[in-house]
Amino acid sequence: MKNINRCFHGGVPSVTAMQRKKHLMKRNEVILWSLSGLTILVGCDDQRSAAGDLQRRTASVSILQSPPVERWYGAGQIVRGNKFYLENCAECHRPDASGAANWKEPDEQGNYPPPPLNGTAHTWHHPLSVLRRTVRIGGVPLGGSMPGFADKLNEQQIDDIFAWVQSHWSDEIYTIWHKRNLQSLKKG
Ligand code: HEC
Repeated sequence: MKNINRCFHGGVPSVTAMQRKKHLMKRNEVILWSLSGLTILVGCDDQRSAAGDLQRRTASVSILQSPPVERWYGAGQIVRGNKFYLENCAECHRPDASGAANWKEPDEQGNYPPPPLNGTAHTWHHPLSVLRRTVRIGGVPLGGSMPGFADKLNEQQIDDIFAWVQSHWSDEIYTIWHKRNLQSLKKG
């Protein structure tokens, strides 16, 4: 168990005398907050910290209202996915999935360079079913140049690759993608 002893000394004008009194009664107690498996112990000793403590409690409530986004994949998939990605995708999309710098500019033939997959381009606009299909059949049927991998990678390996790819996405990007993905599943 982690014991993080944090006392805030900012002072909160809105703290009422009642709250202060009530809080001071237990100022030597250890207040236990449990937040998604992470346990934080906070013990404050001096009087002024009581106000800050309340402020902190209010802050922790707002954190509780938006829990960390749960991903569909586990750590093992990310590790496996990284290996498959390096073997099959990195030569074009770069080892860190950052893609070609000029990915928005088509060449003389009208072909686009490999875009970033790391959440900075469009990849997160597409549900998982579309992303899987892109890898299976490639971009050629849609007028692009990416080869298909249906004969090289099975479904599990493709999913592992997307676990690794999505591990680069921020919670904000992932949450928007997740909603779109759910909508696409409902549509069938
Ligand atoms: C030979 C180069 C090349 C390789 C290898 C390659 N790609 Fe691509 N990829 C591209 C190009 C170029 C595009 C842009 C669309 C097109 O031209 O087909 C693209 C597009 C994509 C897209 C659509 C991105 C978006 O924002 O809509 C995804 C997803 C993708 N690739 C994933 C992969 C994965 C995963 C692998 C490895 C299994 C891979 N690519 C291997 C060149 C490549």
